[in-house]
Parts: sequence; structure tokens; C-alpha cells
Amino acid sequence: MQPDRYTRTISKAFGDHAKEYDENSSIQKRIAETLITYCPDFDHAPRILEIGCGTGHLTHLLLGKYNNADFVITDINSDMRDVCIGKCGNGAHTQDVEYHAMNGEYLDPNLGKFDLIVSGMTVQWFQDTECSVEKWKNFLSDNGQIHLSTLGDGYFSEWRDAMMRSNVKSRLLLSPSLPKDMQTQMLTLTENYKNAVGFLRHLKGTGASTSLPNTGFLTTKELMRVIKSYDEKYRGEMTWKIAIGSWTP
Ligand SMILES: C[S@@+](CC[C@H](N)C(=O)[O-])C[C@H]1O[C@@H](n2cnc3c(N)ncnc32)[C@H](O)[C@@H]1O
Repeated sequence: MQPDRYTRTISKAFGDHAKEYDENSSIQKRIAETLITYCPDFDHAPRILEIGCGTGHLTHLLLGKYNNADFVITDINSDMRDVCIGKCGNGAHTQDVEYHAMNGEYLDPNLGKFDLIVSGMTVQWFQDTECSVEKWKNFLSDNGQIHLSTLGDGYFSEWRDAMMRSNVKSRLLLSPSLPKDMQTQMLTLTENYKNAVGFLRHLKGTGASTSLPNTGFLTTKELMRVIKSYDEKYRGEMTWKIAIGSWTP
């Protein structure tokens, strides 16, 4: 299925910044280090599907943890996937590691079954996260599990507050709804970007600056008001609220 215009815009934004993603994504790396702790041990060689590998923060950890697994590693954007291949390749493995450019909302039905499906900081970009994650269950083997990280309610509260105080409507992505039978744990991380420009540079450098669909762009005047308001009160502090979603049978 051809991705729609918004999905193509998201994919292009990531692809355009594939080479700078790593130097701007220390927080995504910390989130991957938490997500991997939710992934179970297996008493057999598992098949593992990763959705939205990006440049491979989580992939690297997965290849290290499961050195006897078969992997299918995917991302919608082939430039991100290619950086991941260059960085992670087969790891130290002799087993099968396949890489594909694929939309996680419309997985290839021929992928087969997996013991584990994992996805780091990707599903907030989906058109319909709940429905897509629900469909992933069809790709699980008996006792298969899903573990993912995504944006949780109230993320970037400092930026939201600055927008509110500046009378500017938020264009931030909504934190996605997950299937009701998924267990969710919240993780709170803080990062200091020195100032608003440092924060915006981080978002741009990770390809994550696409706004919510149909909300238009901030005008320069609006943006300047938000930057001023944020810098006066928060001086680079930013709170990341992360939801870790787990589905186990
Ligand atoms: C914020 S990055 C996270 C990358 C990596 N998992 C990490 O934790 O650093 C989000 C990734 O999701 C990918 N992505 C966005 N929409 C996607 C979709 N519909 N299907 C698969 N991947 C998608 C982007 O291309 C990007 O590489």
C-alpha cells in the first residue's frame, strides 16, 4: 500500500536527517536502554521483528542481547535503514539478520510469525497507532510478546506551557492511544538543551520536527514569542514523558 502524503512527509524528514540523527539523539538512546530491559529471555532461538529501527540504537542492543535470534529489522525510510545496516550489520552474529524498508502500519503479510515485536519511539508517527499495534498481534507466535516505547501524556510540558502563555495553538503530536489490553508504564526523563533554539535543533536533527497534520506552521512571530517565553522560564529544561507499552499473552 502506498503511504499517504503525511506519512511520506514524515519519512522524508527522517531520511533527510539520517546522517545527523545519532549526534542528536542521546535521549532516544537512553529510552532504548530502558526498553531493552522489558524484552524477555527465551529458552529457544527467537524470531524478532523490529519496527522503526532508525539508525539502530535499539537494534544494536537487541543484536547484543539475542545472539542466537533471527531478526527482521525494518524502517519506513530506506536512508535510516541504511545507516542502521552500516552501524549494526549482522552484529557478531552468524544467524539471519534481514533489513527491510517497510511501513509498520502495513506489514508485509508474508513476514511470518515472531516471538518478539519491538519498536522504539516510532508509533507516535502512525496514522492509527492502536489499530496498527492491534494488527501486529497477528504476527506473533504462541507466547509472542510486543514491547514498544512512545510519547506519553504531558510530554514537553515546558514547551506546551510556553505555547499557552504565548497564545499559540500546540502543533505537537498527540501521545498515541495504545490497545486497551497493553500494559503501560511511564518513564520520565529530563534533558537540558541550553535554550529553546537548542531544543528545536535537537528536534530538527532527529528528523522529528513534523507537526500534527492539518495544523499548519507557526508563523515566525508566533515562534519568536514561544522561544522568548520558554527561555525566560525554563532555560533549556525539557521533560520527556515516555510510555512503555507491553503486550504479553
Ligand atoms: C524517532 S526515530 C526512532 C528510531 C530508533 N528506534 C530509536 O529509538 O532511536 C523514529 C523512526 O521511525 C520511523 N518511522 C516513522 N514512521 C514509520 C512507519 N509508519 N513505519 C515504520 N517506521 C516509521 C522513522 O523513519 C524513524 O527512523
